[in-house]
Amino acid sequence: MAFPIKILLIEPESRSAMFLLGNVLLFMYMMFFVISWPYIIIYLIVQIIIFQRVNQHLRSGRSYVPTTNLNNQTVIVTGAATGIGRATALELAKLRARVIIGIRNQARAERIAQELSKQCNGNVIGYHLDLSDLSSVKDFAQKIDKVDILINNAGVVKRQKEYTKDGLEATFGTNHIGHFYLTHLLLPLLIKSHGRIVNVSSVMHIFSKEDTDFIQNRSYNTIIAYADSKLANIFHATELQRRYGDQGVRAYALHPGTIASTELGGGKGPLETVLTSPFQILSKSMPQGAMTTLFCALSDEAQPGKYHSDCRITPASPLASNSRKAQELWELSEKIINDKTKSF
Ligand SMILES: NC(=O)c1ccc[n+]([C@@H]2O[C@H](COP(=O)([O-])OP(=O)(O)OC[C@H]3O[C@@H](n4cnc5c(N)ncnc54)[C@H](OP(=O)(O)O)[C@@H]3O)[C@@H](O)[C@H]2O)c1
Repeated sequence: MAFPIKILLIEPESRSAMFLLGNVLLFMYMMFFVISWPYIIIYLIVQIIIFQRVNQHLRSGRSYVPTTNLNNQTVIVTGAATGIGRATALELAKLRARVIIGIRNQARAERIAQELSKQCNGNVIGYHLDLSDLSSVKDFAQKIDKVDILINNAGVVKRQKEYTKDGLEATFGTNHIGHFYLTHLLLPLLIKSHGRIVNVSSVMHIFSKEDTDFIQNRSYNTIIAYADSKLANIFHATELQRRYGDQGVRAYALHPGTIASTELGGGKGPLETVLTSPFQILSKSMPQGAMTTLFCALSDEAQPGKYHSDCRITPASPLASNSRKAQELWELSEKIINDKTKSF
C-alpha cells in the first residue's frame, strides 16, 4: 500500500513547512544571483516580515470558536494537566459546562481544577486518574454520576519499551486500553445522555503498518508504538459508532494539529528545548490545538465515526478505514480488559 503522504501534506503545519522551505530557497537565490550586499539585509527584513504574516495564517489552519451554552452538561477530559487537554478543559469550563478532569495524583488534580475554575469562574472538578492502571480507571469511573461528553485526550510517547501496572506495553496500554476501559465503564451513562465520545488521535497514525499486533510484542520502535496507539484511537471511535450509534452515542476521532509547546514525550531538557524551539514557527498555538477537539465535541458539522483534522472531516490512512481490523482490535481490547480486570 502506498504511503499516505497526501494526508500529511494537507495539514496546516505541512503547508507552513513548505512555505518556509520556499522562502529559504528564494532568499538563497536572491542572495547569490540577484541582490548585492548591503541591499540583501533590507531584502531579508522585508522577506521575514512577509513570511511571518503569511505563515501565521498558514500554520493556524481553520478556526472553531464555540458559543454553545453548556450549562447542565458534564464533560470529562483526560490528561487535562497540561497541553491540549488543559486548553480544552478551560474552553469547556468557559462555556459553563461542569468539567471533570482526570489527572494523575489527587492533590494535583484538585490544584489544577482550582486553577482552571479560577481562570474562568467555572466549575472544574479534579479526580485522580491513571490510565496506565486499570484499577485507577475503575475508581475514577465509579465517581462519575453523569457524562454528556467524554474527551479521551491523554497520551504518552515512550522512548523505551515500558509497561503499565497491568503488564501491557505502556503506549498501547495508556493511549488505547486505558481509554477503551474508561469508555466501556461510562458507556451506560453516555447512552443515557446520547453523549459524544471524542478520541484525540494523531496524523502519526499513518506510520502504523498493516501487520501491526498493537501490543508491541516485536522489536520496539517509539514511532511505530505511538502510531499504532493512535490508529487504535481511530478504530475505537469507528467501532463505537458502529456498535452503539443506533443507541444515540456519537464517537469521533481527530488529529489536533502539531503543537510543539506541549509536554508530549515526557517534557524536554534544555538542549531539546533549544533544538525544537525553531519548530514552533510551524506549529499551532495551544488554544488552536484544542479547536478540533471542541469541534468534534460540539459542532453539528463533525461526523460521527469519522476522523477529523483542522476543524473538518479529513481522510485518515487507508488502513484506518479497514473495518475488519477495527473489529479485531475491539475484540482484542475486550479480551485484554476481561483478563486484566477479573480480580477487581
Ligand atoms: N502535541 C502535538 O503536536 C500532538 C499532535 C497529535 C496528537 N497529539 C495528541 O494530543 C493529546 C494531548 O497531548 P499533548 O500534546 O497535549 O501532550 P501533553 O502536554 O504531554 O499532554 C498529555 C497529557 O496526558 C496525561 N497522561 C499521560 N499519561 C497518563 C496516564 N497514565 N494517566 C492519565 N493521564 C496521563 C499527561 O499527564 P501528566 O502530566 O501526569 O504526564 C498530560 O497531561 C495526546 O493524545 C497526543 O497523542 C498531540
